[in-house]
Amino acid sequence: MKTVIHNIGTLAGILPEGTLRLEGEAMNNVGCINNAYLTIEDGIITGFGPMDDDCVRGVSETTSHAEADLIDAKGGFVMPCFCDSHTHIVYAGCRDGEFRDKIAGLSYEEIAARGGGILNSADLLHETSEDELYEQSMVRVREIMAMGTGAVEIKSGYGLTVEDELKMLRVIRRIKETAPITVKANFLGAHAVGRAYRGRQSEYVDLVCNEMLPRVAAEGLADFVDVFCDEGFFTVEETDRILAAAARYGIVPKIHANELGVSGGVQVGVRHGALSVDHLEKTTDAEIEALRGSRTMPTMLPGCSFFLGIPFGRAKDYIQAGLPVALASDYNPGSSPSGNMRFVMALGCIRMRLTPEQSFNACTINTAYAMGVSDKLGSITVGKKANLIITKPVPSLAFIPYSHQTPVIEKVLIGGIAL
Ligand code: NIG
Ligand code: FE
Repeated sequence: MKTVIHNIGTLAGILPEGTLRLEGEAMNNVGCINNAYLTIEDGIITGFGPMDDDCVRGVSETTSHAEADLIDAKGGFVMPCFCDSHTHIVYAGCRDGEFRDKIAGLSYEEIAARGGGILNSADLLHETSEDELYEQSMVRVREIMAMGTGAVEIKSGYGLTVEDELKMLRVIRRIKETAPITVKANFLGAHAVGRAYRGRQSEYVDLVCNEMLPRVAAEGLADFVDVFCDEGFFTVEETDRILAAAARYGIVPKIHANELGVSGGVQVGVRHGALSVDHLEKTTDAEIEALRGSRTMPTMLPGCSFFLGIPFGRAKDYIQAGLPVALASDYNPGSSPSGNMRFVMALGCIRMRLTPEQSFNACTINTAYAMGVSDKLGSITVGKKANLIITKPVPSLAFIPYSHQTPVIEKVLIGGIAL
């Protein structure tokens, strides 16, 4: 199956083969061709360029094949789909009751301390069948795909018992098998201490290391392991223990750190070769120093800052220091009930003062890196998967985050096929 997209106003997000992430200065460039075409074969980008003779040849070759497909971009932008490297979209029900508590003035920590928050979601999940959980989660998968997300990482962490963590991870596996977009699974057994272990946190960590992890590894259910290393949740020492246990199974870590306090989570993550350290709303220069020279992607979640009313991460300082930055949605029922990556890109600009180019790269190639797929997704590159957004004609790349509620997405292609 061959497809040609022609009449592309601007083809944006072009990167040379082998660029797996962008850091520092380089984040300010977005490779573009105006008045372009792009060809796709069997779901893979096979070529692109200006609308000249090559394109005309490509189009006529295509139209001579019965199965060929021709897409007229009508002067819109064509860009890579967003990659969302941090979500919790497998959950049961919602937490709209806590939304009222939050409006009334309770903080995220206060809601959690009352036994609500994550534990509320765990109770609901426990009562929900695997099939029902899958159906509820697929509604969210379809929702984010329509908003232009072409790859998603999904965490467990609302199970908090051996059986319920496995139930969540099996649902994620089923999403992997059935959804057209790329899905990565992250085992977050250490998201909170399960109710049955209240007051026995260290024993809960033993459960994660000695019972959950071996079962998760035996069933091959996790691409990554995660720990909520933060004030009131898991300590650096506990995180260290869990990551060491995961390393025995070869499971790569990603970390929740520095959302509620300066937790030391960044440093322990870097020490264990974490692929990303996420949140970072509260960071000092020590975290920036710890990340220098590492392979770890600092990932910020502006939707969480927006929803909880907590500080936004110091993305500009990280970039100024020559580091990369990724921006993901954190889609979850407690701190960020939205998976709209275009809004994340807009918050990157509006609240973190990133340029549209920096924010675009943070939501595409750098999030692809943060979920280990930047060799296949996250840019317009020959050989990468054709997960693409086609927009209505818009005046500039900046218009996309600037006029962030204007419905500009015309089409989303996953593996070259329109949703
Ligand atoms: O990334 N901070 C920890 N975990 C999630 C929130 C989970 C929840 O409240 O349900 C987050 O913000
Ligand atoms: Fe999270």
